[in-house]
Amino acid sequence: MISKLSNCSQPARACRPRPIRATGSNGTHSIPPSRNSIETGSGGSTSRCAPRRRGGILSIGCGGGADFQIAPHRFTGSTVVLVDLDRQALVLAEERLSRYCDVHIVCGDVRRAIRQVQDEGPFDVVVCGCLSDYLDDRTIISVLGELRCRLLRVGGSIVFTNIAAGNPFRVWMEAIADWKLVHRSEPELRKIATAAGFDRLDFSVRRDPTGLTHLVELSVP
Ligand SMILES: C[S@@+](CC[C@H](N)C(=O)[O-])C[C@H]1O[C@@H](n2cnc3c(N)ncnc32)[C@H](O)[C@@H]1O
Repeated sequence: MISKLSNCSQPARACRPRPIRATGSNGTHSIPPSRNSIETGSGGSTSRCAPRRRGGILSIGCGGGADFQIAPHRFTGSTVVLVDLDRQALVLAEERLSRYCDVHIVCGDVRRAIRQVQDEGPFDVVVCGCLSDYLDDRTIISVLGELRCRLLRVGGSIVFTNIAAGNPFRVWMEAIADWKLVHRSEPELRKIATAAGFDRLDFSVRRDPTGLTHLVELSVP
């Protein structure tokens, strides 16, 4: 997934974090997509901005923490708040991450949980890996709107994924695997972002390497 987890304390505008590459777990189109992982970009462990205070990260629908797994050491010293409905997944994510950073878990539905974690913000980055695939437009708009108004720091960003419309494995996934996801096109995602109050200039989208998933970044200038 796109990522901007650069861990620096300078005003976000003065500190443009490095991009992070997205890696589909499959790497090719040969099997249906399962999920994406956050992977830190190339280069060493320090960002252009010398870290004075490590970043505050909120991960919603974190599952077992796979979004962080490729390079958990990159989050050393950060504060990471993990939200998910599934307590077992949360405990696993906490186990995986807590040796690197300060982790706080919140078990519950995203709609309520983001209010619960509000006092732990504002956050530099909010990550939602593969969560919007399970949510309707209204819920996503409301969640993104709240994140923008109440939880994100100025200069912060939300990075999220959504399975792309036109997925050639959709029929197989639904008929054989009973795996139903909400597929969306780029214009649909733009509409959602606009409805949540984001300026069109603060929206960017690209595909993950499999081509099956949109990687969306929304920023708060
Ligand atoms: C496909 S998994 C993605 C996990 C992780 N982000 C990743 O990419 O590996 C989706 C996660 O969202 C969680 N989830 C689904 N609906 C949710 C909701 N309404 N509120 C909070 N978590 C939710 C599920 O429990 C699951 O762990």
